[in-house]
Amino acid sequence: MEENKVMFKVTFDNIPVEVEPGTTILQAARKIGGDIVPPAMCYYAPLKGTGGKCRACLVRVAQGSAKDPRPMPKLVASCITPVQDGMVVENTVNTEVLEARKGIVEFLLINHPLDCPVCDQAGECDLQNFAFDHGSAKTRYEEERRTFDRIDIGPYVQLHMTRCILCFRCVYTADQITNRRVHGVLNRGDASEISTYIEKAIDNDFSGNIIDVCPVGALTDKTYRFRQRVWFSKPVDAHRDCDKCGGKVVLWYKGNEVIRVTGRKNVFGEVEQFICNTCRFEKKATSDWVIEGPRVIEKWSVISQNHYEKGTVKPEFSLKIADAYKKIAEPTTSSDK
Ligand code: SF4
Ligand code: FES
Repeated sequence: MEENKVMFKVTFDNIPVEVEPGTTILQAARKIGGDIVPPAMCYYAPLKGTGGKCRACLVRVAQGSAKDPRPMPKLVASCITPVQDGMVVENTVNTEVLEARKGIVEFLLINHPLDCPVCDQAGECDLQNFAFDHGSAKTRYEEERRTFDRIDIGPYVQLHMTRCILCFRCVYTADQITNRRVHGVLNRGDASEISTYIEKAIDNDFSGNIIDVCPVGALTDKTYRFRQRVWFSKPVDAHRDCDKCGGKVVLWYKGNEVIRVTGRKNVFGEVEQFICNTCRFEKKATSDWVIEGPRVIEKWSVISQNHYEKGTVKPEFSLKIADAYKKIAEPTTSSDK
């Protein structure tokens, strides 16, 4: 007989949920799912130790626990804060959180070039989506953005350090799923940069996964760059018998040509299974694969527009957030008059 598990009762945006002790606030929200889930720019569930770097997931803890109902004094990063029994958390229902999130977008964009029109990640960029949902329409930033010299990190991956938001996901990927670490964050503060040590090429079988985990266009696929805007591509689920990674992928078509192979991502934009470089870079013929059918891009994305019925738009979310931001904007607008 299964023992009675202790479960913590948590309320997230007025919705009750029961989770196991040790669950983070973000994971509790993901258990509820939908529009109330906080955005995450650095946390990545398949990789251990991620989170706590970008602050995109900030929430307000209005009640710490049933035993100690005091609110937490500051907003907390939901991806690294464990829940307590009786905790009450506010995200989209709290304008202070949305206001702070707007500031986080501004911070992340301080050194990020606004080059979406020429960036390969456009259309599937987490920062672009984050700025669209939570950012402000105009910028206050006038200072010069930091720039870096181009670094060659091998034949498959293009590094654009100027676009990096230092989320550390690629560093954890290199650490956890490749057999040796040749890549990390160098220096400190605004001089920090992702680099391979002494510009060494990343030449192991799973290095291509750093492309999939990068939330922005800092790490892109050299074999796919500038071939096609992602929203014009047709994503298709396919698999092959691969003894290295299992071979479950998404093929991205331009007409009848496979122009890119990626891992399959879940609703939170995280890969379901890391894939090897052979599948990613060397198997670009339809005959290499067993086609399963069209990929439904579940995450709200421009990619799914005009393609499939499911996962096309997030109207409730957009309206809810737009309403909340309107409330924030109202006092400012009236005092400006
Ligand atoms: S290169 Fe991409 S994945 Fe790596 S730290 Fe920068 S933004 Fe994150
Ligand atoms: S996703 Fe939580 S701090 Fe980055």
